[in-house]
Amino acid sequence: MTQPDNGACAAARQRMAADLVAGRPSEWADAFTSVPRHLFVPRFYQQDTTGAWQPLSWGTPGYLETVYSDAALTTQLDEHGVPNSSSSQPSIMLAMLKALDAAEGHRVLELGTGTGYNAALLCHRLGDANVTSIDIDPGLVDAATGRLLLAGANPTVAVRDGAEGYPDRGPYDRVISTVGLHAIPKPLLQQTTPGAVLVPPLGYGVVRLTVTSPGHATGRFLATPAHFMTRRTDGMAPRFDAALEQSPTDSSVPPADLLGRLKFPASLALPGYTSCTWRNDQGDVDAVGLWTPDGSTAIAHTSGTVRQIGPRRLWDTIEDLAKIFGDEPERDTFLLTVTPARQTVFYADTDGPSWDLPATP
Ligand SMILES: C[S@@+](CC[C@H](N)C(=O)[O-])C[C@H]1O[C@@H](n2cnc3c(N)ncnc32)[C@H](O)[C@@H]1O
Repeated sequence: MTQPDNGACAAARQRMAADLVAGRPSEWADAFTSVPRHLFVPRFYQQDTTGAWQPLSWGTPGYLETVYSDAALTTQLDEHGVPNSSSSQPSIMLAMLKALDAAEGHRVLELGTGTGYNAALLCHRLGDANVTSIDIDPGLVDAATGRLLLAGANPTVAVRDGAEGYPDRGPYDRVISTVGLHAIPKPLLQQTTPGAVLVPPLGYGVVRLTVTSPGHATGRFLATPAHFMTRRTDGMAPRFDAALEQSPTDSSVPPADLLGRLKFPASLALPGYTSCTWRNDQGDVDAVGLWTPDGSTAIAHTSGTVRQIGPRRLWDTIEDLAKIFGDEPERDTFLLTVTPARQTVFYADTDGPSWDLPATP
């Protein structure tokens, strides 16, 4: 049951909005103060100490405080119990909305409707007629449409793969994605106006691109660390058993570096990689596994041995990164350029180390 917007909700919302803007003027303060997040997230899931997901809804202790806190909220689990939709962390949403630099009259496309909360914030500031939001999940689009209406917002919401965009409502002045991409989908650039701004998550960061000419865009990453659920695609599962059968090689890069200082550059050099850890009884990392959608898999052990299989030798890339980055690099030192032929991330500048993004977003 969706719950009413009462005084307790309004007070909690005001506190959250005040914490988010932290005394600084923000053109988004009014939206965060006014849009009732709890209407969009009537239920979310939290992991208990055993790792099992427990639902929280209206009336559950802690529900309202958590909904109006700076927390990302898992709102849907797939058939394997893996989260596949969430309401993003409000401070990251605010950072992305600020970076979007949307002004009155701008037409905005959002990829990843999810709960509809971000679409409602956009509607509050820019008006229903200027907001279009798409999601690949028909059930989510249906639920979000109902909740948006309940909250008094009426944007265009449609079921689409974000990689296709939504030409029917373009051209757009601004594109924001709350679903992680591995590269910028070409149709999005074709659906934007000259000078349009795109703010999508890419790897463990968010990039802010300006369209410079048809099919071309460039921009730097935001300083903010971020990780969004990535676009649902059919990637291969990790091939750990096959990797373990390979002869080991030596590596001087500790597995923990992939989880720390190299995490962000690795997400650009190996788009779409996933990692996992094996830990000992004391909880220390024994080994990390990583794999990419093409089935390439590597296992690096703290003893210094590495086993790899597949079309790409993933740990070799991690070793190359370790030579470039002594410390964790600042995200806003990275630059992305997009042309119809190629998408390239550069470190520091266009004559710095670079990595090409895949043709498939
Ligand atoms: C972090 S959630 C979006 C949060 C949302 N903006 C909100 O305010 O609640 C990411 C969403 O991306 C959607 N998604 C995943 N793959 C997609 C794709 N290929 N195209 C469009 N949406 C996709 C998921 O269904 C999920 O709802």
